[in-house]
Amino acid sequence: MGKDVIIACDFSGKQQVLEFLDKFGDIKPFLKIGMELYYAEGPSIVKELKERGHKIFLDLKLHDIPNTVKKTMSVLSHLDVDICNLHASGASAMMKAALEGLTRPDGTRPLLIAVTQLTSTSEEVMKEELLINAPLDEVVASYALNAKNSGVDGVVCSPLEAGKIHDVCGKEFLTVTPGVRFDDATKGDQSRIATPARAKELGSDYIVVGRPINAAEDPVAAYKRCVAEFVD
Ligand code: C5P
Repeated sequence: MGKDVIIACDFSGKQQVLEFLDKFGDIKPFLKIGMELYYAEGPSIVKELKERGHKIFLDLKLHDIPNTVKKTMSVLSHLDVDICNLHASGASAMMKAALEGLTRPDGTRPLLIAVTQLTSTSEEVMKEELLINAPLDEVVASYALNAKNSGVDGVVCSPLEAGKIHDVCGKEFLTVTPGVRFDDATKGDQSRIATPARAKELGSDYIVVGRPINAAEDPVAAYKRCVAEFVD
């Protein structure tokens, strides 16, 4: 898959999502379904959006013992999503088990990406609450390399970290980057941000865009602006 813009469908119910997507007519953007929507609507929302022609990144961030994650990933692989994810802090046994569960009998599987440290976790919190003393960027790079060595396809990270991740893990290792804002917009609660054009320069493979599109006055125009800056 080449570079693409993924819209975060951060809505609490199916009706809102469908009203939002109806604005796009024949355009079928890649969508991210997160915990809020998935827990509200269940697997049927994934099936329905796939049937409407969208690619899906199912952002459930699994983190449990290897056997549980393996069996859960097996269930998700039958939903035919395109990307799903887990926490790299579950360590290599969990990530390898996830890949086994995700692989279908015919050998195909969705892409699997890992969350390293959540972008909401500061270096101070890492040190004081999680007792991790290494600098944040080293921790992110080290978790990414561990994910890569476990067979995982890429990581979720800030666009500002994409270059270092590619240096450490190779350019084929995917960087999926939230924290995208237009240069004329407010940051909201994101701190490590980049414009779609800057994310492209920094080497992001996919940008995940929420409020700049889903809260825009004209979401279709905002989506097209992201595509023009990031993909074209
Ligand atoms: O509205 P905004 O563009 O900030 O949305 C970004 C999306 O990416 C949200 O769905 C958020 O949960 C998700 N995300 C993130 N940072 C991460 C992982 C996921 O912002 N580290």
